[in-house]
Amino acid sequence: MAETWLASDVERLIDSLGQLPEPVVKPAFIVVSGLPGTGKSYFCGKLAERLHFVILESDVLRRALFPSPRYGPTESRRLFQAIHLLIEGLLKRGMSLILDATNLSERYREHLYSIADHLDVRLILVKVEAPPDVVRGRLKVRQEDPQRKSDADWGVYQKMRSSVEKIWRNHYVVDTSWDITPVLDKIVRAVRR
Ligand SMILES: Nc1ncnc2c1ncn2[C@@H]1O[C@H](COP(=O)(O)OP(=O)(O)OP(=O)(O)O)[C@@H](O)[C@H]1O
Ligand SMILES: [Mg+2]
Repeated sequence: MAETWLASDVERLIDSLGQLPEPVVKPAFIVVSGLPGTGKSYFCGKLAERLHFVILESDVLRRALFPSPRYGPTESRRLFQAIHLLIEGLLKRGMSLILDATNLSERYREHLYSIADHLDVRLILVKVEAPPDVVRGRLKVRQEDPQRKSDADWGVYQKMRSSVEKIWRNHYVVDTSWDITPVLDKIVRAVRR
């Protein structure tokens, strides 16, 4: 039963995060969205160096629950149910967050919008992009890296391409084949505003 797993799944995810930062009065919630290899995790890493937010990286959290992930629908449903509850719990505790997941469908993102709206938390959306030939090259190199956190390859990228949906709320767009610093600066300023 999903419900009986949920509480213990969330506990396991929290344990996997290690030390959490000091809570703040008005936490922010940054959600990136983009296909595999577009540079979401790279971008989130750079952002976290400047903002000290907690990164919730779906690939890492998936392995905390499923050490040999299969990426099937049941596994993903269970993972994202736990991630949603985790997000809500951490925001309520005053933790600012970055969600690093593909977040391609608007229906899925609506869950995230509703958590932020309900808690009156500042939501910052970022669409991460890169030209397909750049992504293909990156993914080829990444597949050789034993330390990689994502297994998504060019085949997965191509399959997921048709799932990309327009983001209907205001959002930043970053093309990671260019200098990402201007968008990082804008987001840092928006958070501190
Ligand atoms: N701005 C960048 N400059 C240099 N290298 C980058 C940049 N963005 C990403 N890369 C490299 O490209 C590869 C893919 O990027 P990354 O892992 O961040 O993609 P991702 O969107 O998180 O993919 P996935 O959805 O599979 O997790 C990585 O090896 C990363 O180091
Ligand atoms: Mg990633």
